[in-house]
Amino acid sequence: MIVDIHTHILPGVDDGATNFNEALEMARLAVADGTTHLFATPHHRDCTPLTRAEVSDRVAKLQVRLDKANIPLTIIPGHEVRLYDDMLDDWDRELAGPLGNSRYVLAEPLFHHYDAHTNEMLFELFDRGYIPIMAHPERILPIQKDLSLIEPFLARGGLTQITSSSLYSDKDRFAHQTALTMLRNGMAHIIASDAHKPYRRRPILMKAGQAAARIVGSSQAEAMISTNPAAVVQNKLISAPTLAV
Ligand SMILES: [Fe+2]
Repeated sequence: MIVDIHTHILPGVDDGATNFNEALEMARLAVADGTTHLFATPHHRDCTPLTRAEVSDRVAKLQVRLDKANIPLTIIPGHEVRLYDDMLDDWDRELAGPLGNSRYVLAEPLFHHYDAHTNEMLFELFDRGYIPIMAHPERILPIQKDLSLIEPFLARGGLTQITSSSLYSDKDRFAHQTALTMLRNGMAHIIASDAHKPYRRRPILMKAGQAAARIVGSSQAEAMISTNPAAVVQNKLISAPTLAV
């Protein structure tokens, strides 16, 4: 089972797929790369606000299109939950929610700001019984400057998702370097594409898995694109590598 926990494949919702054709093209690319399951994680803000039920409804419609086109890919509903100050209000209104019906939440810090309150919101999710998976910390500027910012989150049992392209490409030099450092330090748990278009941050994982294998070895790299994200689908506990800081 190869699982991509972070994509913007749902058409016409955010800055991801524009229409069904683009979504189908993304799905074909994912399948060609070996992906079997993919979470649709539209931004919960700065886009069309969708409740959990509305995301599920749109995912069901997309799944019908995929099935008709004979594309063997299972789409699971989710949200990419942005850690705005009032995120928990949106959570309570079901405008932000977990990955599928699991205990895992894809939580995205703001790109230019990370402070104690960011950690407090993540801790509140833990208190409610969830396990946050931080979306692409390697692309967040304050974290690039100071990785220790996320140590309290990791110490609490938080997980991280590195974006594929941060590993296989050094176009964003700082994200690339931060991703490599996180891998070396045991601070990375899942690789996902954060695919937005068939041509922008494409829905591919294998190239990133190979890049990760060169640093952490093949079994840990496999855990990052298969075992760990599969545990999200199955709502099983993920055993994180010991933190080396
Ligand atoms: Fe995203």
